[in-house]
Amino acid sequence: MAEQVTKSVLFVCLGNICQSPIAEAVFRKLVTDQNISDNWRIDSAATSTYELGNPPDYRGQACMKKHGIPMSHVARQVTKEDFDTFDYILCMDESNLRDMNRKSNQVKNCRAKIKLLGNYDPQKQLIIEDPYYGDNADFEAVYQQCVRCCRAFLGKVR
Ligand SMILES: *[C@@H]1O[C@H](CO)[C@@H](O)[C@H](O)[C@H]1NC(C)=O
Repeated sequence: MAEQVTKSVLFVCLGNICQSPIAEAVFRKLVTDQNISDNWRIDSAATSTYELGNPPDYRGQACMKKHGIPMSHVARQVTKEDFDTFDYILCMDESNLRDMNRKSNQVKNCRAKIKLLGNYDPQKQLIIEDPYYGDNADFEAVYQQCVRCCRAFLGKVR
Protein backbone atom coordinates (compact mmCIF):
# COMPACT_ATOMS: atom_id res chain seq x y z
CA MET A 1 0.00 0.00 0.00
CA ALA A 2 1.37 3.36 -1.03
CA GLU A 3 -0.37 5.37 1.65
CA GLN A 4 -1.81 4.46 5.02
CA VAL A 5 -2.81 7.87 6.28
CA THR A 6 -6.44 7.98 7.26
CA LYS A 7 -8.41 10.92 6.03
CA SER A 8 -11.96 11.71 6.92
CA VAL A 9 -14.95 13.50 5.53
CA LEU A 10 -18.44 14.19 6.88
CA PHE A 11 -21.21 15.19 4.46
CA VAL A 12 -23.91 17.37 5.98
CA CYS A 13 -27.42 18.47 5.01
CA LEU A 14 -30.58 19.51 6.86
CA GLY A 15 -32.15 16.11 7.56
CA ASN A 16 -29.47 13.59 6.56
CA ILE A 17 -31.97 11.68 4.42
CA CYS A 18 -31.67 13.41 1.01
CA GLN A 19 -28.40 14.91 -0.25
CA SER A 20 -25.84 13.94 2.40
CA PRO A 21 -26.37 10.14 2.42
CA ILE A 22 -26.16 10.24 -1.40
CA ALA A 23 -22.87 12.15 -1.21
CA GLU A 24 -21.59 9.70 1.40
CA ALA A 25 -22.49 6.66 -0.73
CA VAL A 26 -21.07 8.18 -3.92
CA PHE A 27 -17.79 9.04 -2.21
CA ARG A 28 -17.53 5.60 -0.60
CA LYS A 29 -18.06 3.98 -4.00
CA LEU A 30 -15.29 6.14 -5.51
CA VAL A 31 -12.67 5.26 -2.91
CA THR A 32 -13.74 1.61 -2.90
CA ASP A 33 -13.30 1.44 -6.69
CA GLN A 34 -9.82 2.94 -6.30
CA ASN A 35 -8.94 0.46 -3.54
CA ILE A 36 -8.29 3.21 -1.03
CA SER A 37 -11.32 2.79 1.22
CA ASP A 38 -9.07 1.71 4.11
CA ASN A 39 -7.58 5.19 4.05
CA TRP A 40 -10.88 6.92 4.53
CA ARG A 41 -13.42 7.44 7.26
CA ILE A 42 -16.68 8.56 5.62
CA ASP A 43 -19.98 9.52 7.21
CA SER A 44 -22.92 11.90 6.90
CA ALA A 45 -25.05 13.81 9.38
CA ALA A 46 -27.89 16.31 9.83
CA THR A 47 -27.88 19.87 11.09
CA SER A 48 -31.44 19.30 12.38
CA THR A 49 -33.20 16.69 14.49
CA TYR A 50 -36.14 16.25 12.06
CA GLU A 51 -35.30 12.82 10.64
CA LEU A 52 -33.11 11.21 13.32
CA GLY A 53 -33.10 7.42 13.05
CA ASN A 54 -34.69 7.40 9.60
CA PRO A 55 -33.29 5.72 6.48
CA PRO A 56 -32.50 7.78 3.34
CA ASP A 57 -35.49 9.10 1.36
CA TYR A 58 -36.99 6.31 -0.79
CA ARG A 59 -36.49 8.39 -3.96
CA GLY A 60 -32.79 8.71 -3.18
CA GLN A 61 -32.64 4.97 -2.52
CA ALA A 62 -34.25 4.29 -5.92
CA CYS A 63 -31.79 6.64 -7.61
CA MET A 64 -28.78 4.93 -6.06
CA LYS A 65 -30.14 1.49 -6.88
CA LYS A 66 -30.49 2.59 -10.49
CA HIS A 67 -26.82 3.61 -10.52
CA GLY A 68 -25.70 0.44 -8.72
CA ILE A 69 -24.35 2.26 -5.69
CA PRO A 70 -24.87 0.71 -2.25
CA MET A 71 -26.35 3.09 0.32
CA SER A 72 -27.24 2.27 3.87
CA HIS A 73 -27.44 4.97 6.47
CA VAL A 74 -29.41 5.93 9.54
CA ALA A 75 -29.89 9.66 9.99
CA ARG A 76 -27.98 11.17 12.87
CA GLN A 77 -27.27 14.71 14.00
CA VAL A 78 -23.87 16.36 13.90
CA THR A 79 -22.07 16.09 17.26
CA LYS A 80 -19.45 18.31 18.92
CA GLU A 81 -16.88 15.57 18.39
CA ASP A 82 -17.43 15.65 14.63
CA PHE A 83 -15.74 19.05 14.45
CA ASP A 84 -12.62 17.62 16.02
CA THR A 85 -12.52 14.17 14.44
CA PHE A 86 -13.20 14.91 10.77
CA ASP A 87 -10.75 16.60 8.40
CA TYR A 88 -13.51 17.92 6.18
CA ILE A 89 -17.13 18.80 6.77
CA LEU A 90 -18.81 19.32 3.41
CA CYS A 91 -22.22 21.02 3.34
CA MET A 92 -24.89 21.03 0.64
CA ASP A 93 -26.30 24.56 0.85
CA GLU A 94 -25.59 27.89 2.47
CA SER A 95 -27.99 27.29 5.31
CA ASN A 96 -26.08 24.10 6.26
CA LEU A 97 -22.82 26.03 5.98
CA ARG A 98 -24.06 28.83 8.26
CA ASP A 99 -25.30 26.29 10.84
CA MET A 100 -22.02 24.41 10.83
CA ASN A 101 -19.87 27.53 11.05
CA ARG A 102 -21.99 28.75 13.95
CA LYS A 103 -21.75 25.40 15.76
CA SER A 104 -18.01 25.25 15.14
CA ASN A 105 -17.64 28.45 17.18
CA GLN A 106 -19.30 26.73 20.13
CA VAL A 107 -16.93 23.76 20.31
CA LYS A 108 -13.54 23.70 21.98
CA ASN A 109 -11.62 22.18 19.12
CA CYS A 110 -12.47 22.43 15.47
CA ARG A 111 -10.05 20.62 13.25
CA ALA A 112 -12.44 20.27 10.31
CA LYS A 113 -12.34 22.46 7.28
CA ILE A 114 -15.98 23.42 6.72
CA LYS A 115 -16.95 24.01 3.10
CA LEU A 116 -19.65 23.58 0.51
CA LEU A 117 -19.32 20.32 -1.41
CA GLY A 118 -20.23 22.44 -4.45
CA ASN A 119 -16.94 24.31 -4.07
CA TYR A 120 -15.41 21.34 -5.87
CA ASP A 121 -17.86 21.22 -8.78
CA PRO A 122 -16.01 21.62 -12.10
CA GLN A 123 -19.33 22.91 -13.50
CA LYS A 124 -19.44 25.53 -10.72
CA GLN A 125 -22.90 24.69 -9.39
CA LEU A 126 -22.26 25.81 -5.86
CA ILE A 127 -25.48 24.69 -4.19
CA ILE A 128 -26.78 21.13 -4.04
CA GLU A 129 -30.46 21.90 -3.58
CA ASP A 130 -32.66 19.99 -1.17
CA PRO A 131 -34.78 17.66 -3.38
CA TYR A 132 -37.25 16.83 -0.59
CA TYR A 133 -40.14 18.76 -2.17
CA GLY A 134 -39.05 17.80 -5.67
CA ASP A 135 -39.26 14.63 -7.74
CA ASN A 136 -37.04 11.85 -9.08
CA ALA A 137 -35.35 14.24 -11.52
CA ASP A 138 -34.25 16.40 -8.60
CA PHE A 139 -32.72 13.40 -6.87
CA GLU A 140 -30.94 12.49 -10.10
CA ALA A 141 -29.56 16.05 -10.28
CA VAL A 142 -28.28 15.73 -6.70
CA TYR A 143 -26.63 12.43 -7.62
CA GLN A 144 -24.91 13.94 -10.68
CA GLN A 145 -23.66 16.90 -8.68
CA CYS A 146 -22.35 14.59 -5.95
CA VAL A 147 -20.48 12.48 -8.52
CA ARG A 148 -18.77 15.52 -10.05
CA CYS A 149 -17.93 17.12 -6.72
CA CYS A 150 -16.76 13.94 -4.98
CA ARG A 151 -14.46 13.06 -7.88
CA ALA A 152 -12.92 16.53 -7.83
CA PHE A 153 -12.65 16.53 -4.04
CA LEU A 154 -10.90 13.16 -4.03
CA GLY A 155 -8.55 14.38 -6.75
CA LYS A 156 -7.64 17.41 -4.60
CA VAL A 157 -7.05 15.67 -1.29
CA ARG A 158 -5.71 12.20 -2.06
C1 LIG B 1 -8.37 -2.53 -7.34
O1 LIG B 1 -8.15 -3.88 -7.00
C2 LIG B 1 -8.71 -4.80 -7.96
C3 LIG B 1 -8.56 -6.21 -7.39
O2 LIG B 1 -7.30 -6.40 -6.84
C4 LIG B 1 -8.02 -4.60 -9.31
O3 LIG B 1 -8.56 -5.47 -10.26
C5 LIG B 1 -8.21 -3.14 -9.75
O4 LIG B 1 -7.50 -2.89 -10.94
C6 LIG B 1 -7.76 -2.17 -8.68
N1 LIG B 1 -8.13 -0.82 -9.06
C7 LIG B 1 -7.31 0.21 -8.96
C8 LIG B 1 -7.85 1.53 -9.41
O5 LIG B 1 -6.18 0.14 -8.53
